[in-house]
Amino acid sequence: MEIVSNSKEMQDLALRWREEGRKIVLVPTMGFFHQGHLSLMEHGRTLGDRLVVSLFVNPAQFGPTEDLQRYPRDLDRDAALAREKGVDVLFTPTPEQMYPEGYQTYVEVEKLSQGLCGASRPGHFRGVATVVLKLFNLVQPHAAIFGEKDYQQLMVIRRLTADLNLPIGIVGCPIVREPDGLAMSSRNTYLSPEERAAALSLSYALKGAQKLAAAGEKSGEKILELVRKIIPRVPHTRIDYLALVHPETLEEVETLQGEARLALAVWVGDTRLIDNASIPEARYTCCV
Ligand code: PAJ
Repeated sequence: MEIVSNSKEMQDLALRWREEGRKIVLVPTMGFFHQGHLSLMEHGRTLGDRLVVSLFVNPAQFGPTEDLQRYPRDLDRDAALAREKGVDVLFTPTPEQMYPEGYQTYVEVEKLSQGLCGASRPGHFRGVATVVLKLFNLVQPHAAIFGEKDYQQLMVIRRLTADLNLPIGIVGCPIVREPDGLAMSSRNTYLSPEERAAALSLSYALKGAQKLAAAGEKSGEKILELVRKIIPRVPHTRIDYLALVHPETLEEVETLQGEARLALAVWVGDTRLIDNASIPEARYTCCV
């Protein structure tokens, strides 16, 4: 596995692969790999013959009071894990290369970026859409893989790709969880043992909502009410947002007809965690 930190070098390599007829797959990440990231790499390996993982903690998607400085980083460990997964190139550009002096171009996916995490984190999806488009231009992938853990992000990227006619297949992969249900996240490392226990309230509440829907409940309000009751019973938790939305438009759903997504963000101590689930529980988990 090669580590490429220079953007021009990455692009030249990708263009050479293209000329040779290689199929390039990209997994964009901010590093500090866990099984969620590794599952995307495993899937990526099966989709093409050149697998690139980008590792870049993107300043443009962090708000001024957010955790950019303390975001966990461990390049040596990440490189060893990526190598084990058969990654061809770990692309690690610097902020100076991605946003050199004078940088002033941003892309915005307007409507999809507004609600849910977009409402709590103004500018976040503008930063995500911009960096992902830049990574697409540098790595020239035929396919790019994203996790459903960041469900709104996946929808924003799908829209960006369709709206700007990018010839790239966007692949979504299911959420990987710890054995007790907690969705894996690099930010879980911030949790104290007490907070780690409290963090289970997210997946527990989502399961409860799935059960209620499976028992025939169609009212969005009733389903949200259950979650609103479950989470605050757990110490150290505060709901940031909670919404039942259409799986593609992310518009609020009042009455369940077919599948919807229940998405939530919860502060556990000083750490903001997100999770989501299909309501009712999807019969198939798939990568499409
Ligand atoms: P990061 O949080 O590092 O996540 C990288 C990818 O891993 C994303 O597609 C995310 O959805 C996926 N992922 C994270 N936890 C997961 C889990 N438990 N199960 C399955 N997939 C999981 O998301 C970002 O970085 C950034 O916003 C990025 C897209 C790289 C742009 O900067």
